[in-house]
Amino acid sequence: MATWKTLTTLDSASPLMEQLLFFHDHTLMILLMITVLVGYIMLTLFFNQFNYRFLLEGQTIEMFWTILPAIILIFIALPSLKLLYLLDEVNNPVVTVKSIGHQWYWSYEYNDFKKVEFDSYMIPKNDLKETTFRLLDVDNRMAVPYDSQIRMLVTAADVLHSWTIPVLSVKIDATPGRLNQVSFLLNRTGIFFGQCSEICGANHSFMPIVMESISMDYFMKWISKMSEI
Ligand code: CUA
Repeated sequence: MATWKTLTTLDSASPLMEQLLFFHDHTLMILLMITVLVGYIMLTLFFNQFNYRFLLEGQTIEMFWTILPAIILIFIALPSLKLLYLLDEVNNPVVTVKSIGHQWYWSYEYNDFKKVEFDSYMIPKNDLKETTFRLLDVDNRMAVPYDSQIRMLVTAADVLHSWTIPVLSVKIDATPGRLNQVSFLLNRTGIFFGQCSEICGANHSFMPIVMESISMDYFMKWISKMSEI
């Protein structure tokens, strides 16, 4: 979770998010090189005395400064496409969780198990304790086992919502009448926070997402307890 003075991106919790961060850094390096080069050239233009009134074209340099940016763009486009398709890979999920967006809360269903369904509301201001995070914590957190491939099915009951957890590289629209799919793998335990990311009405800001990443043992205990209720 981002706290005060967290100015950089958060550490990833999944291999895909790690790759996305690498891609971000890679693209930013290219951007930096271009900015420095163009900045330097622009600056030198102010401070030189060279004038040639009859210069109208230069076939060679025009060819060069057209092809070079195109080649640079390929170095961004190819890793970007690779990641785009990698994000869509499902890889034999162990658990499937269905998340439904409502105005204004999320509900979860674990349909691999018997009768595991619950609503997840934000904890209101009046009920805050020292251990709860204001505007970000929920009464019923969802849980998934770490180091296991998880599939999320996301939909909505009323209007558009978006189920988003940044450190997982998950951001998917919850659309009424549609079932969207994402998959991810957590490579560490922890509590991960997210928020609805589609303007869905008055309380859009108040339907956060909390995911507990726990060991498979604890997950099985939790899920069996949930299906007893
Ligand atoms: Cu739900 Cu914004």
